[in-house]
Amino acid sequence: MKSYKELPDDAGSNIVGQVTAQAKRVNQRLSSVKHTIAVMSGKGGVGKSAVTSNVATALALQGFSVGVVDADINGPTIAKMMGVRKSKLEYTSAGVKPAITSLGIKVISMDLLLSEDDAPVLWNAHSQKDAFTWRSTMEVGALREFIGDTEWEELDYLLLDLPPGSERLANVVELIPSLSGVVVVTIPSDVSQLIVKKSVTMARDVLNVPIIGVVENMSYYVCHHCGESEPLFSNDDAVESAFQFTLLGKIPFDPKLSQCNDSGVPYIQQHPNNQASEAIVATVENIKKYFNALS
Ligand SMILES: Nc1ncnc2c1ncn2[C@@H]1O[C@H](COP(=O)(O)OP(=O)(O)O)[C@@H](O)[C@H]1O
Ligand SMILES: [Mg+2]
Repeated sequence: MKSYKELPDDAGSNIVGQVTAQAKRVNQRLSSVKHTIAVMSGKGGVGKSAVTSNVATALALQGFSVGVVDADINGPTIAKMMGVRKSKLEYTSAGVKPAITSLGIKVISMDLLLSEDDAPVLWNAHSQKDAFTWRSTMEVGALREFIGDTEWEELDYLLLDLPPGSERLANVVELIPSLSGVVVVTIPSDVSQLIVKKSVTMARDVLNVPIIGVVENMSYYVCHHCGESEPLFSNDDAVESAFQFTLLGKIPFDPKLSQCNDSGVPYIQQHPNNQASEAIVATVENIKKYFNALS
């Protein structure tokens, strides 16, 4: 398939003009955002969305202005985790007003555009063969609109919760050349790290995107009877040796965290003294340290 830049004649729909105008809007919108961070892993189910929503909460509790883009167009979970699923988006001449959480975090997600719980995102394609190309093109288009059309205004941090798959970052980098960096989420299992290493190589060596650091999620489990920590996976100390990047935090598994995520309640506000909350706050401190060291 030709890229939109190569189309000699777009049958009067001016695709090139539209995409260029949208790219300009993305730049304009992001000019008032200090730091844009992509949260990625390459693998699903390791806690990208949980880390994104809780890091956003921790930043907001410290008084920073924060926005979250749910870039997982096919499996959006951020609106639910952040308690804004019932919000209606408001459209104005200046763009779309994002949903706003109880802590003032601005959220945009495909989930806010789908009317029914079980409605899938359907990508129209001429044939099954075309579906993959269309899906990828449509995903980038949706993301461009999410970022370019949303009234973010002044933000200290804009977090992008990426879908699994390291190739997704390439789309984001094309869309946001000013991307500040990537936070990589993994769990201490060989299987996760095998795939996450590919994402790290993609980000650092292929796309030249700075890696802010790695978050090890579900590192251990704290028994609520005896208070002892137990590892959840066999490969306990693997993250530091495998990645040679700043380990931003080791977040334990806490059933309260998934309960809060499921009910859209800010976990670290409800359970500030739990070890997972402390690990999330430590992660945020390390992210801030990364940016302070740059300035
Ligand atoms: N540290 C944790 N403790 C408890 N539950 C967690 C933790 N991290 C993630 N979860 C839960 O695990 C599930 C998968 O996490 P999610 O953030 O949706 O993964 P991903 O976005 O990488 O696919 C969710 O139900 C989430 O609430
Ligand atoms: Mg997710």
